[in-house]
Amino acid sequence: MAQNEDVFKKIVSHCKEYGFIYPSSEIYDGLSAVYDYGPYGSELKNNIKTYWWKSMVQLNDNIVGIDAAIFMHPKTWKASGHVDAFNDPLVDNKDSKKRYRADQLIEDAIAKIENKAEKEIEKARARFGENFDEKLYRETNPRVSEYLMKSKTIQDKLNVAMTQNNMEMLGEILQELEIADPDTGSRNWTEVRQFNLMFNTQLGNIAGEEGKLYLRPETAQGIFVNFLNVQKTTRQKIPFGIAQIGKAFRNEIVARQFIFRMREFEQMEMQFFVKPGDEMKYYESWKSQRMKWHLALGTGANKLRFHDHENLAHYANAAVDIQFAFPFGFKELEGIHSRTDFDLKNHQSLSGKKLQFFDPETNESYIPYVVETSIGCDRMFLAILSEAYTEEMVPDAEGAEAQRVLLKLHPALAPIKCAVLPLLKNKPELVEKAKKIMDELKISFLCAYDDKDAIGRRYRRQDALGTPYCITIDFDTLENNTVTMRERDSMTQTRIPIDELTKTIEDKISWRNLFK
Ligand code: GAP
Repeated sequence: MAQNEDVFKKIVSHCKEYGFIYPSSEIYDGLSAVYDYGPYGSELKNNIKTYWWKSMVQLNDNIVGIDAAIFMHPKTWKASGHVDAFNDPLVDNKDSKKRYRADQLIEDAIAKIENKAEKEIEKARARFGENFDEKLYRETNPRVSEYLMKSKTIQDKLNVAMTQNNMEMLGEILQELEIADPDTGSRNWTEVRQFNLMFNTQLGNIAGEEGKLYLRPETAQGIFVNFLNVQKTTRQKIPFGIAQIGKAFRNEIVARQFIFRMREFEQMEMQFFVKPGDEMKYYESWKSQRMKWHLALGTGANKLRFHDHENLAHYANAAVDIQFAFPFGFKELEGIHSRTDFDLKNHQSLSGKKLQFFDPETNESYIPYVVETSIGCDRMFLAILSEAYTEEMVPDAEGAEAQRVLLKLHPALAPIKCAVLPLLKNKPELVEKAKKIMDELKISFLCAYDDKDAIGRRYRRQDALGTPYCITIDFDTLENNTVTMRERDSMTQTRIPIDELTKTIEDKISWRNLFK
């Protein structure tokens, strides 16, 4: 774990040093849990969004995309349940004045107890070797079964408290487990209370409650309120989906772990409208489609897993997370939710406008059920970087070049596709040729031109940005119109004719390689 924490710190500083992500308004010491994407970060993020958008809207003829406004009529959030139920249980420490989520403090305590059990099991595995029967040991070892029983009892109680919104019960669990402030060790807690996560602001010309607007905490509601507009204007029939990418805002109590939990972030959401009764079929199908989307990037199958929700959100009758093995452990990357007709039914009743689909084949009208896939773009960014970040020794290299840091990004996602490097910058004939090649390649994809420093250092810089191909223009180029093309991960170099460059690189970076 210490090693992983180390890797996480390295990823965060790599992001800053190489122009991927900066703290927001850094000259004023930053704003907690808000970040700005730099030149390479915004390219990578745009590519992640393109991958998602194409896989939804381009590859499915029954999914269309929209771009709804961030501000919505305030009644939207009443109907969606966010005004009443989009809360986290908050607790303050009276000594340290620090604020925490009570459920997270309890979950951390459960994880500590489970860790104790795992440590005992690992010790026993080392002791008994091949003959070790883990299942039997878990059931019969008194200490292990006591730990596991204890963690289950607390988890069950936490689930009850969260489902019933029982803040007193959460306070009791904090006391019973003698949970202390992780920073100071103080147990001097306030009572636990509900904290609504929506940011609000005021509409210019209306005073008071009437003019209270919210920054949307999820993009999904822009899809729900446009459901019939979209269905009618695109002549879709059920089942069909609406996809959207956009900003969402949540006043997270504890925002930490870099871009994992932010106050301003981006979501990529798709609502799939189905006939009531068909929802579980599509829920299962979207679970498997979304997992395939992640695996297509080359992410190891051992880094991704499903995790069923124990506490369902106020709108869901089934929910599962796709979790990724971040450097700080397996955590939610994407959610797939069966949202029933909760949202459309409430919007219909509060707006007084019918939100029903008329099925011409059966002559019936009904409010569709919805299966949602929802992934945070920033979280996906962090998952991709965590998977791509690699440190390795370079064979036959010496000094500063003996070790390299590279981002093994899928070529379709890499911010820069190709770097154009004249071998020497003080040879005008090489520079002129390199600039000509650059001018030709940049029409097709994003390239970088670099003539500073020794060639080895330029390769290292491109490795650190995740650039999959480097083109070097040398004296042979002037003779026979060929260049060397270096591949980032293998570092192999091949000589290819200049007039084949565009096509060769285009094939390698094509989205087709992900969608095939
Ligand atoms: N419309 C459903 C919905 O919003 P959610 O599980 O609350 O469900 C969906 O959020 C996804 O949005 C999460 O899986 C995560 O990737 C991302 N997300 C949620 N809160 C976030 C935050 N504070 N910072 C970054 N990403 C967040």
